[in-house]
Amino acid sequence: MNIKYFEKKEAAVDYAAQIMYDQIKSNPKSVLGLATGNTFEPVYYDFVGKIQGTDGRLNLNLSAITTYNLDEYVNVADKDQEQSYYHYMNFHLFRYTDIDLKKTNFPNHYSEDFRTELTFPEFENSIRKIGGIDLQFLGVGTNGHIGFNEPGSSINSVTRCVMLSQATINVNSRKFANPADMPRKAVTMGIKTILESGKKIVLVALGREKEAALRQLVNAKAYDPN
Ligand code: F6R
Repeated sequence: MNIKYFEKKEAAVDYAAQIMYDQIKSNPKSVLGLATGNTFEPVYYDFVGKIQGTDGRLNLNLSAITTYNLDEYVNVADKDQEQSYYHYMNFHLFRYTDIDLKKTNFPNHYSEDFRTELTFPEFENSIRKIGGIDLQFLGVGTNGHIGFNEPGSSINSVTRCVMLSQATINVNSRKFANPADMPRKAVTMGIKTILESGKKIVLVALGREKEAALRQLVNAKAYDPN
C-alpha cells in the first residue's frame, strides 16, 4: 500500500486524474471501477481537462474502455433523475468523452424487488467475465464506508442491496432538494467484489473531515468491519 499526502486538494485530485489518464493511455481497453461523490467531481473535471486539447478535440480515445460504477441508489436509478449516480457520471465525465455508453455498468438494473441483502450475480459475473477491474477508484465516507459498505460490512460481502446508515443519510441528503427524498437503500459492490476484482485500487480522501476514518483504515492491522 502506498500512501501519498498532499497539502493541497488540487494536487491530490491531479494525481488521481493522472493515474486514470495513464491507465487508459497504456491500455485503451482498460476496465475502470468508478466512484462518485464530491471527491470525484474535481478528479473527473481534471481528467477531462487532460483529454481535451485546446482546439476542443480529444487526445485520448475512451471508446474501448468499460466501466463499472461502485454503487447506485435504489429508486433514484433513472438516468434522468439528477441525484442518480448514472446522471452524475454522465454530467461529470461521460458526456465529455467518446465513451461507449453500452459499456458503462451500474449495479442496479436487475431487480424491481430491492430487498436488503438481495445480491446481483449478473453484475459480479460480468466483472469476472471481463477479467476484473484494472483501476478501481474509491472514496471514503466520514463514517468509514467504502462504496456503500457501511461499518459492519463483511469482508465476504458481494454486490447487494444495503440499508444506508443514518450518518450517510445525513450527509448525502444535502444533495436532495427535499432531504426526505434521500433513499434509505442502495446497491453497492461488496468488499469482496472490490478486493478480488481490483487489480489497482486508488482511494482518494480530501479534507480534514475524512481524517479520522482514514487513520482507522490505514492503521488497521487486519480487516476491521467498522
Ligand atoms: C460513491 C461512493 C461513496 C463515496 C463516499 C464519499 O460512489 O462510493 O463511498 O465515495 O460517500 O463521498 P464524498 O466524496 O461525497 O465525500
